[in-house]
Amino acid sequence: MEALDQLDELLSCRLDAGRKAAQPCTIVIFGASGDLTARKLVPALYHLYLEKQLPDPFRIVGFARRPKTDAAWREELLQGWQQYSRAGDLSAAEWNAFAANIFYCEGEFTDPGAYGKLRNQLAGFGDEALRRNLVCYLATSPSQFAPVAAQLHDSGLLLKSEGPGFEQKLVVEKPFGRDLLSARQLNHELTRVAHEKQIYRIDHYLGKETVQNILMFRFSNSVFEQLWTRQSVDHVQITVSEKLGVGGRGGYYEEAGALRDMVQNHLLQVLALIAMEPPVTLEAECIRDEKVKLLRSIRDFGPAQVSSFAVRGQYAAGEIDGQKVPGYRQEARVGPESNTETFVAARLLVDNWRWSGVPFYLRTGKRLPLNSSQVRVQFRPTPNVLFAAQCGPRLDANSITLLLQPNEGIILHFNGKAPGVNIEIRPVRMQFDYEAEFGAYTPEAYQRLLLEVMAGDSTLFIRSDEVETAWSIVDPIRQAWAGQPLGAADFYPAGTWGPAAADDLLARAGHKWRMTQSGPPLAGEGNEKL
Ligand code: BG6
Repeated sequence: MEALDQLDELLSCRLDAGRKAAQPCTIVIFGASGDLTARKLVPALYHLYLEKQLPDPFRIVGFARRPKTDAAWREELLQGWQQYSRAGDLSAAEWNAFAANIFYCEGEFTDPGAYGKLRNQLAGFGDEALRRNLVCYLATSPSQFAPVAAQLHDSGLLLKSEGPGFEQKLVVEKPFGRDLLSARQLNHELTRVAHEKQIYRIDHYLGKETVQNILMFRFSNSVFEQLWTRQSVDHVQITVSEKLGVGGRGGYYEEAGALRDMVQNHLLQVLALIAMEPPVTLEAECIRDEKVKLLRSIRDFGPAQVSSFAVRGQYAAGEIDGQKVPGYRQEARVGPESNTETFVAARLLVDNWRWSGVPFYLRTGKRLPLNSSQVRVQFRPTPNVLFAAQCGPRLDANSITLLLQPNEGIILHFNGKAPGVNIEIRPVRMQFDYEAEFGAYTPEAYQRLLLEVMAGDSTLFIRSDEVETAWSIVDPIRQAWAGQPLGAADFYPAGTWGPAAADDLLARAGHKWRMTQSGPPLAGEGNEKL
């Protein structure tokens, strides 16, 4: 027994003791016939139901134009679950019990009468909380966000309030605006009918476990946070690479491009979490204040300088996993001469005391060789004596990789002596693997996000000034590219890592892109004999 006393205990600490629970409410999904509802929202709600995390009572109402009965919609959602859910088989009894809470309301977004119908339907639930605690999920096309919110307000369903009591919330999907001007306009229109506290702007990356873990990793460990400064860090790379092309989303993507689709939101959010200062408390506003402060510290570069800081590309025909795939211009609903970028790389500088002089490289693209989202914090090399003097650049500097997805985990790379009579240095790694540590199940981002909305916690959502600051970072890039056709060198064959200019962006500072795969280093990788 005494021997056991000295073993490490598995201490864990729950921070949600004082958290508000999800309140009984009705979730009204506008744009209920869309892909997002069947693919993400309803499966997430069903998971929450199975885990007994949904409030009691709750209702889900789908609001959309097509005529449909409740039963028909439930059947559609069931098929969606069977097609998209990772969880596999479902119990008919449990699904039926869940589906009994699902209703459909047919109506045009622009028709005040339809909102009257919705009001009656909510009243018919016979429970004050189900009638007045509303989560209005705007899964519509972006042009409908403001009109639907205005109709909700005019029909008395959405009351602007920040006080206690019944509350209506607006959940707004991305993209939030097309640029700074339109985002400001949308903020203005939404805050006319709802208080900022009632608005939940979604970035589903913030619902990912590994993204939430960034703050825990940084601020609950003294060893790492001490290294997290310009004194130790050489540069940071954030890569979100996807093998998929645009598939059936050509119409949307033509309007968006990778800069709006990924950089303005997901990549800048990850950057903000990686680089922000510790917040004063864990309250939503304190965390969001720090993120905004960080985004504001990113150096402005006017359109004239964009070519030294940002690179774009578009995939041409190529091969993914040995299969031939078409180029972007050949995809459905894409113009044959489209100049939309499917790849972006950028070098950002953060002008504050912690990060001055440390480049942050961002990269994202479709039809790249790997599905992987990761952050690599590359540390400074050792002084040029001893091993470094003999190995030169063959002695790899230390780094920490946060594998955001897939194979979620964190890897610390350092050097060690390969066993044997030779003196050989080899990179080795210490790896934390989510699955090995916690088991295979990680909740979908939307589960967490929906629960947070129901509990009224805004931490994982984007505040108005945050979304505007993010646009002000990408707008100059977009303006510099607008009207400039892509050149031959901007195209990359599908299955490669983007145009050569993306490598040059780093090479100028003596850096190169690095991707980490989980598992042991590839044989021979970085081995150095002295
Ligand atoms: C979405 C983008 O926001 O994120 C898509 O619109 C992209 O183009 C997707 O594929 C990536 O999300 P995830 O969770 O698969 O990394």
